[in-house]
Amino acid sequence: MSIDALPMISEQCPGVTVSRRSPFSVLPALVRDPLQALPPEIYHQPVVYSQVAGRRRILLADPVLIYEALVRNADALNKGEDVRRALGPALGQGLLTADGAHWRWQRQSVAPAFRHEKLMGLLPAMIAAAEKTRDRWLESGSAIGIGHEMMRTTFDIIVETMMSGPGGIDVARVERGITDYLKPTGWVFALSILDAPDWLPYPGRSRARAAAIYLRSAITRMIAERRRKPDGREDLVALLLAASDPESGRTMTDEEIADNLLTFVTAGHETTALGLAWTFLLLARHPEHEARVLAEIDEVTAGEPVRPEHIARLAYTRQTFSEAMRLYPPAPIITRTATRAFPLGGFMVPQGAVLIVPIHAVHHHATLWDDPGRFDPERFAPEQAKGRHRYAYMPFGAGPRICIGGAFATMEAVAIMAVLLQAVRLRQSGDMPAPMMKVTLRPKKEAEMLVERRA
Ligand code: HEM
Repeated sequence: MSIDALPMISEQCPGVTVSRRSPFSVLPALVRDPLQALPPEIYHQPVVYSQVAGRRRILLADPVLIYEALVRNADALNKGEDVRRALGPALGQGLLTADGAHWRWQRQSVAPAFRHEKLMGLLPAMIAAAEKTRDRWLESGSAIGIGHEMMRTTFDIIVETMMSGPGGIDVARVERGITDYLKPTGWVFALSILDAPDWLPYPGRSRARAAAIYLRSAITRMIAERRRKPDGREDLVALLLAASDPESGRTMTDEEIADNLLTFVTAGHETTALGLAWTFLLLARHPEHEARVLAEIDEVTAGEPVRPEHIARLAYTRQTFSEAMRLYPPAPIITRTATRAFPLGGFMVPQGAVLIVPIHAVHHHATLWDDPGRFDPERFAPEQAKGRHRYAYMPFGAGPRICIGGAFATMEAVAIMAVLLQAVRLRQSGDMPAPMMKVTLRPKKEAEMLVERRA
């Protein structure tokens, strides 16, 4: 069939399920937790279509269609209004939120920081930060908040590796600031769907704004310092200071550099920290998998301190982190807006439609995973992974906007697990904490774990 003959997406299109939930149930759910606002059909159907407040929304859980949309038709998509409204006030037009040519030259400018050889050189800093956390735990020997502890560790790593240290940034205030900023994002999404104006007040808005202002002022001071005293460091700040747009030849303003540093500091530590927190919570509930991880770490390190060359050999440890991110993807939903109509499967996506890729639903999809709720790191053993569609698992997204820090995050997570689990076991009593989405997927309440020194 020629493209011209394809119908616009509607309930008549084969394979398309229409969700008829009323805006009165969707919008309050969105405010509480966008994951709860997903139509339940998307956990077992390939495509769900809905119209909420006049906006056409197409949810995709079929890996073939996800590839068609995010990879093959990436040039027909941009990040859209929801993302701009939720993250723009904090991250401006940095790499995560920009579109088009402005996105492209920023991506090219920072790419050298993420090449394999460069990442290998960052491993000692990752190991050192994990050792600091381990020593703190061994000294205090008591209960810890696992989310908070992982945030501290990955924050140390991101500022050390990307900005050569925290300078004058108050780490605790940044962590609080990010949480305050993300808390009311459900409101932002709901108001965006209703096309309500940007200035409309909502609960938590002034705290979120104050947090964004603090984060930006701390980073701006650091940039000014680096401009005043260039020091030959080869980090992300240096790349951004030296970047020039291939089309116009212009360099980045301080504000554009701040947009990107804020993007990297936030996107680059919160997600990994949450992935690790869920990993430790799952291991505490699954002693058989925990025992395998501990045995692998002991065998590979042979009782020596963890070294960079150990990390690539910790295959089962890495599988465990991958499986935790399947069950609890730190970025559980990604969205795009169609800038022009394009064909997808047997229908046309109309211009202006919002495409939603609910990574959480893809990772739990009844047709893609056997017993989707079961924690089983063996799913990521090379033989098992071979038979699976590449986009049935996509914690880092897909296409040109795929996470630039995926390899960084995986290396970092394995290094942190190795250093910590060489020395301690983490225990948790009670039920597995319920997840809640605030842009990222966090435990609803901070989860306490007990640190038990390994004999
Ligand atoms: C487990 C950890 C991580 C997860 C699950 C994760 C997930 C994601 C996802 C799903 C996207 C795509 C969003 C979209 O398509 O709309 C993304 C983009 C991005 N991530 Fe990550 N991320 C992680 C760690 C990191 C790290 C460590 C860094 C930086 C060091 C980072 C920096 C970014 C940036 C800058 C983008 C925007 C890329 C672009 O649009 O070109 N992320 N991440």
